[in-house]
Amino acid sequence: MSTTARTGADISTLQKIKNTLAENFGGPTSKLGSRQFSLDECPDLTGKVAVVTGGSQGIGFGVAYTLLKHNLAKLYIISLSSDKIEKAKATIAAELGRDKADRVIWKQCDLADWRRVKEVAEAIAKDTDRLDILVNNSGRGIMNAQLTDYGVDRHMAVNHMGHVVLTSYLLPVMKKTAEQGNVVRISNQSSNAHKGAPADTKFASLAEINRDSGPNGQYGRSKLAGLLYTRYFDRNVTQKGHPNVLMNATHPGFVSTKQSTEDIHEPYPISGYAMSYGMDPFKKSQFEGAVPTVFAVTTTNNSGQFICAPATPEKASEMARSDELMENLMELTKNVVRERTGGESVVSL
Ligand SMILES: NC(=O)c1ccc[n+]([C@@H]2O[C@H](COP(=O)([O-])OP(=O)(O)OC[C@H]3O[C@@H](n4cnc5c(N)ncnc54)[C@H](OP(=O)(O)O)[C@@H]3O)[C@@H](O)[C@H]2O)c1
Repeated sequence: MSTTARTGADISTLQKIKNTLAENFGGPTSKLGSRQFSLDECPDLTGKVAVVTGGSQGIGFGVAYTLLKHNLAKLYIISLSSDKIEKAKATIAAELGRDKADRVIWKQCDLADWRRVKEVAEAIAKDTDRLDILVNNSGRGIMNAQLTDYGVDRHMAVNHMGHVVLTSYLLPVMKKTAEQGNVVRISNQSSNAHKGAPADTKFASLAEINRDSGPNGQYGRSKLAGLLYTRYFDRNVTQKGHPNVLMNATHPGFVSTKQSTEDIHEPYPISGYAMSYGMDPFKKSQFEGAVPTVFAVTTTNNSGQFICAPATPEKASEMARSDELMENLMELTKNVVRERTGGESVVSL
């Protein structure tokens, strides 16, 4: 091997390691990545309108705060708790001014309740004549398996299916916004943890996704679904007549939020302390965790990518690149949503 070739290979291996560190950890480590993006680079968003699920705390709050700081005209936040949204709005009012806090419209909605998701999406679409940004971020973390009232695995119902329903009902206003000469950007909050999906995942039936695969398997499968949906949307919407409606998936890194400090103790009451406290000094802050999403919904002109912190497109797992899994997942999603809501909510493109 020539010296040049060896040096090239070494550099790329070293940079790969640096990228992995930058993707996952906070502080100075986050600056080691080959591609950089900072929240200060978020462009001016005057006149634009966004929807952020889970924008009241954690990474979603980091995204919501940044969009408002950069002059977003209107922000719909979809989440569960009135206490959390009040706290979020109070922080925005104190730090960015009352005018910015007044731009927030809260919609209380459990993403596992797909009839309610449809109702909320239709109310938003009626209330705004444009929608430039959709951040599908809310999520159930690494927790025990549970079924929703519709009898569907809660990880899949919230993290994947609820967001697909939301996107479906918001899509007409997003397409209209794009047709008026704007770039519309959608992000799905995925994770490197998608690699923890059970190896035998086929998305072949509801019985399969309702099988308890353990906290990491449950979570990983729902994050794999977000990546497959991203590719499906890119292929069937962006590449089929809507080149200015972009969708990308993101990995925020290992971020200090309720999920990684509190929720982790539900499945792992004692060993969870390794993640909640042991790892906390190395985690990203909620603002560092917001970086890839802000890049994805304000800056990139690509679609169908897996954007890892800070702004590095990465190759997802082999399962995330499988066309068979992608088609199975979306067929199952359409059928389950239609059947379980008695046809009241549907998935459409
Ligand atoms: N933290 C990490 O290290 C990490 C790593 C990779 C990916 N992620 C992903 O990043 C996203 C944000 O998580 P986070 O870490 O910021 O967690 P978080 O602080 O716990 O925030 C979760 C947000 O989701 C909302 N939410 C939860 N369940 C919901 C439901 N059923 N319907 C509607 N909204 C719901 C919550 O609403 P309330 O505020 O009303 O409770 C909250 O705003 C998730 O998709 C997560 O899986 C996180």
